[in-house]
Amino acid sequence: MTTSLPLNDLHLLDPIRSGQSLQTQLYQALSQRILDGRLQPGDRLPSSRLLAKDLGVARNTVLAVFEQLQAEGFIRHQPRSGTYVDPRLPAQSVTDAPKPAAHPRPPRPRPALPWLHRPGAAGREDQNRPFTPGLPDHHAFPLASWNRLMHQQESRTALLGYDSHQGYPPLRRAIADYLRQSRGVRCHPDQVIITAGAQQALSMIAELFLHAGDQVLIEDPGYRGARFALARPGVKLQPIPLADTVLDLDRLPTQTDAKLLYCTPTHQYPLGGILDISQRLRLLDWAARAGVWIIEDDYDSEFHFSNKPLPAMQGLIDDAPVLYVGSFSKTLFPALRLGYLVVPADLVDAFNQLKRIHTGETPLLLQAVTAAFIDQGQFARHLRRMRQHYHGKWQLLSEQIEQQLGGQFRTVAESAGMHLVLERDGDDQAWAYQLDKAGYGPLALSDYALAEPKRTGLVIGFANSSEAEIRAGIAELAKLNA
Ligand SMILES: Cc1ncc(COP(=O)(O)O)c(C=O)c1O
Repeated sequence: MTTSLPLNDLHLLDPIRSGQSLQTQLYQALSQRILDGRLQPGDRLPSSRLLAKDLGVARNTVLAVFEQLQAEGFIRHQPRSGTYVDPRLPAQSVTDAPKPAAHPRPPRPRPALPWLHRPGAAGREDQNRPFTPGLPDHHAFPLASWNRLMHQQESRTALLGYDSHQGYPPLRRAIADYLRQSRGVRCHPDQVIITAGAQQALSMIAELFLHAGDQVLIEDPGYRGARFALARPGVKLQPIPLADTVLDLDRLPTQTDAKLLYCTPTHQYPLGGILDISQRLRLLDWAARAGVWIIEDDYDSEFHFSNKPLPAMQGLIDDAPVLYVGSFSKTLFPALRLGYLVVPADLVDAFNQLKRIHTGETPLLLQAVTAAFIDQGQFARHLRRMRQHYHGKWQLLSEQIEQQLGGQFRTVAESAGMHLVLERDGDDQAWAYQLDKAGYGPLALSDYALAEPKRTGLVIGFANSSEAEIRAGIAELAKLNA
């Protein structure tokens, strides 16, 4: 028998607004909860004294209601024990067949964005499965060290209150140091804004920069999270195709009204190409001339296996027209929901206001743990270990592809990141479905297309797959031809 009951909203009883006595309202509220299953047979009700006190009504009012409910067989009083929903009532599940609406509902929202109302629009990438792209190896995360830091931080009362919307200052400082040293980003901690993953950073950029009628240029194929964030009502997304595996700079319009260009220059998502320094400088020059802000999504640069990754575009020149986006989803773990945005100093206030509207502060405890993890050198150590670990998996996957698939697919992969692409003409949705049935989560390359898909294949995440899963998954893929 349970005592935790869904009665919190009963305090809303109000005889003046409802035109009904308190007794009638309380009777209706309790009987309705029993009928619709929110109160289940055997649930214990609070004592009449407690309920009266909680609701601010006379105890006699509650006693009269209990009496009526008992007379009607809804509840039973058991001396020296308490008052219960009558256990002999048939169990009613709250999820039982839908009941007709008591009042006509306002209409469903009109789909301001078509994909919002598409069934299953959230996509299969929400599942943590072998070959699902974008997932780090959760089994290799140093949970014991993380938990120790969590334990140290969780008893700090200083972390229980409100803090800066922009983000916990020690974390902003740690990120700024890291980005300056590892990614060549030019930034002061005051330019760093902590977000709920890269996704919130992208949404805030869209909200600050875009109005109906505006245009955004976006790599195609490209990251769907960016497409979803930037596709605001009335905003036109203009796909810029790739030259094989990188953004095709020759296809950028010389004259454009576009406000933003989204790109992943250090490891094109999903095709993996890298814009070299001269291409980066050319892109920056184009953006300055065209009056377009570049969104540089630097989502997995920590994992380049053979060479150090090229420095971020943001830091290549003074006053680069770049909004730099990063995330801890790959370097730590996605459920942390921590990302960051580096913006020019004169945009910081506007982003802070927006952040206040979006979510207010980011959870302080997690920010403090992350800051300590970085400051104590554990972040750098973890990245070093994961770089090796993922390199090993990448090599194994490449070997398995070679051995088991021969030349059936074209492997599109730099020695970097957490995924690669197997490209080939054909029905990639059917291949993804086939692998899905076998318990693997690769995505169809055609799903990443903004315009009509021209390229097909499978995007395969390997970081979160064990060696056995990599071997067995590629064997599964080999069956596609059998
Ligand atoms: C291209 C790209 N950018 C950013 C992210 C990270 O997104 P978030 O920080 O919202 O988890 C991902 C994750 O898969 C990604 O693939």
